[in-house]
Parts: sequence; structure tokens; C-alpha cells
Amino acid sequence: MSAKIIDGKTIAKELRAELKTEVEELKETHGVTPGLAVVLVGDDPASHVYVRNKHRACERAGIATKDVRLEDDASHEEVIKVVRELNEDPDVHGILVQLPLPDQIDEDEILNTIDPKKDVDGFHPFNMGLLLSGQPSFVACTPKGVMHMIETMGIDLTGKEAVIVGRSNIVGKPQALLLLYEHCTVTICHSRTKDLAEHCRNADVLVAAVGRAHMITGDMIKPGATVIDVGINRLDDGSLAGDVEFDSAVEVAGAITPVPGGVGPMTIAMLLRNTVDAAQAAAGL
Ligand code: GUN
Repeated sequence: MSAKIIDGKTIAKELRAELKTEVEELKETHGVTPGLAVVLVGDDPASHVYVRNKHRACERAGIATKDVRLEDDASHEEVIKVVRELNEDPDVHGILVQLPLPDQIDEDEILNTIDPKKDVDGFHPFNMGLLLSGQPSFVACTPKGVMHMIETMGIDLTGKEAVIVGRSNIVGKPQALLLLYEHCTVTICHSRTKDLAEHCRNADVLVAAVGRAHMITGDMIKPGATVIDVGINRLDDGSLAGDVEFDSAVEVAGAITPVPGGVGPMTIAMLLRNTVDAAQAAAGL
């Protein structure tokens, strides 16, 4: 049997169309144009592609963008200064500093400098703390997008075993909390987990967010499970691959996201959602 394909591209397109209407309304009735500033430091090729896609999606939705680029050898203080200026800029409602940052820059301190009200990535400790305490405000875009996909597919989460492979602040940890709030029993696996395959085989919902191509194979998946592949890995031949070996997984899973066209488009749609939310909040709406 072959799994249902969770079409993130189409789900994201519908969301972006709704957001475009909201943005038009914000402009017409309140004179507010949502604005997102994207800070890109250095010349990591993957980051350049991601940032270009974010700008393009904003433009299509009517969101204004500010493109801030710094050289690979920019100092930590320069990046801090840029973030502080953006914090004060009334036309900027959301600030995103593309990660990873070059080694000379203290990533935590940069993220801590972003005004939590403009933290559309949801990475500031204040927003992470709100999520942890069950009062979510800005939630990280990828896990938020994953939840939206699961909801759109009508997959019931109550009482399900959810296994997340990866414990990052960007995906693994917030994903675990969001699934917990939907009443899953949650396990977070990571590089030191003993018998990863056994944990995965228990999962009704399996989220792979490790960044290693084809690490999760069909024999590690419970028949009928929902498999969400967050990985975007570039193979030697230039093609993209997820963390899940799609061809073997699709034969076992009940529903599965493809790469590309699964989680990636949802992350961008949620960034737009958070930016519009930030603009509405700034306008007192
Ligand atoms: N690098 C990889 N994913 C992300 C993301 O969601 N936000 C930012 N700022 N950087 C990233």
C-alpha cells in the first residue's frame, strides 16, 4: 500500500492566498503595510536560496521586505547594531536573522537582541518561554507549519505516540511542545539515542529533523504512521533529499511529506503568517 502524500505546496498556497487578502485589508482599512527585514550574513549558498524564496513569497503576498546583507567577515558588533536599528524601525514588523551565522558571531546573543514583538522566527528566549509555559505567541515557523499540515490532513493526534528525531531549538524542541499540546505522548530522539530504529517503529507520528539524507528508512516506520520529513539535504548530484528515504517509507506510512514540496513551503507560509500577526499587533489590532 502506498501512503497519502501530504502536499505542503498546495496547503501553503491556500494559506498564502488567505494572507494576501488579510494584507490588502490591513493596507486599505488601517494604512499598514506589513514589513519583514531579513538579515543575511555571509555567503552560504543554501541560506541565499532560502532568503531569496522568503523575499519572493513576501512580495507575492504584498508584504514589504528589507534586505540586509553583511559580508562573511562582519563583526558581531556590526550584526548587533543592524538588529538594534531594525528594532527601532517602525516600518519593520518582523525581523529574521538567517541561520547559521559565521563563527565569529554569537548566535544566541544576536537572537536575544531581536525585539520579542518582532521575533517572527520565534527563537527569542521570551517567545520560547511562552511556548514552554503554554502561552504561545510567536512560534517557530517549521514546527508551526508541520502542525498546520497535520490539521489540514484531518489526522487526529490525541493519545498518539509522536517521535521527533532531532532536538534543535528551531524544530525539535518546539515541535515536541506543539505535539504535546495536542495530547500526543512525545519522545525526542537525538544523536546519542540508543536504538533509534526501535523508537521510530513505535511512532504514530514521526518527525525527522536531523539534516542527514535518507537516515530514516521504511523498515523504521510503523505501518500507517504519519511521516513528516523536515530535512532538506543537497546530494552530490545536486538534487534535494529529505531525512527520510522516501521510496521505502511511502510503502509503509499512512501519510508522508515529500521533499521538496512538503515542509519547506509551509515554513515560508508561517513566516508570512507571523509577520502579518506582528503587523496587526503593532497596529493594536
Ligand atoms: N535556518 C534554517 N532554518 C531557519 C529558520 O527557520 N529561520 C532562520 N532564521 N534561519 C534558519
